[in-house]
Amino acid sequence: MDALDKCLEEFKKEAQTITTLDELNRLKGRYVGRKGILNDSLKQMKSFSPEKRRETGQKINHLKSIMEKEISQLHNMLETSSGKHKAVDLTLPGNTTPPGSFHPITLALNRIIEIFLSLGFRVEEGPEIETEYYNFEALNFPAEHPARDAQDSFFLPYKLLLRTHTSPVQIRTMEKYPPPLKVVVPGRCYRRDPMDATHSMVFHQVEGLVVAEGISMGHLKGTIELFSRRLFGPARNVRFRPSFFPFTEPSAEVDISCGVCGGKGCRSCGYSGWLEIMGAGLVHPNVFRAAGYDPEEVRGFAFGMGVERIAMLKYGIPDIRLFFENDVCFLNQFRGL
Ligand code: PHE
Repeated sequence: MDALDKCLEEFKKEAQTITTLDELNRLKGRYVGRKGILNDSLKQMKSFSPEKRRETGQKINHLKSIMEKEISQLHNMLETSSGKHKAVDLTLPGNTTPPGSFHPITLALNRIIEIFLSLGFRVEEGPEIETEYYNFEALNFPAEHPARDAQDSFFLPYKLLLRTHTSPVQIRTMEKYPPPLKVVVPGRCYRRDPMDATHSMVFHQVEGLVVAEGISMGHLKGTIELFSRRLFGPARNVRFRPSFFPFTEPSAEVDISCGVCGGKGCRSCGYSGWLEIMGAGLVHPNVFRAAGYDPEEVRGFAFGMGVERIAMLKYGIPDIRLFFENDVCFLNQFRGL
């Protein structure tokens, strides 16, 4: 037993002097190799009593595992420092954390807002959880009015709901400030629509509201035409189609000429040459009344556009679901925009 302890001590001493893999291999052979000291000791046990043989055997195995562990550690150390596997290659590029970038919805939203700010609009915001009053009633959708069906909603207790459009902020803004007004309202909206390539239950709108004396359809058309050409380029035409919203009269649906075919008709525009970008119209007198404005004194126009729609047209994105899937391959394409 003493001899074995001494053997371990010597092994440790020698191990400290090892500087190359060759030396290490020799050390390994001498102690734990087939013809090494430990195996020799095992052979010598033949003459021992069974009791002693067991005890010595255990001791030898114990030493062997200590030595093997030490040898493998030394091996790793020598291998990395000898250049076989360099621990650090200073010529490799470092690990970088790429900076974040804007989501395409944010990019489109910022661009839209920027254009209206340059035209003298201010930004207003309102809550995403709305009352039925602001979302419908005050906007001239009476209870039971069939127009409510077009905006299937997520209802909450206490006559609350997730707003289906940003139009309730028209009322909130008029309640807060006297005329004249020129505001845009960006924000998230919710509708109970089944998901498909052009519908999402969560989406964004930018509402616009201008109120002053003598506002006409001409102001609306001029503003929207200017906006559309700034956003999509000077080659685009804009057209107004008669439509219906309870809170505007007259109401219009605004289309821009298709950027793919230039208005001739192709697959992207459903062969019509036009793409719908927003709803608009002159503010209905009942809306002014609900908000405490006098419809005899002021006129106004309002519009509301879907930001996803605009971003899809501007960046050529074929499916609205791409915005919400957080696929880095998709999002990376907007880096630096
Ligand atoms: N709020 C309407 C919608 O979501 C859009 C709109 C806004 C229409 C303002 C006219 C005036 O469909």
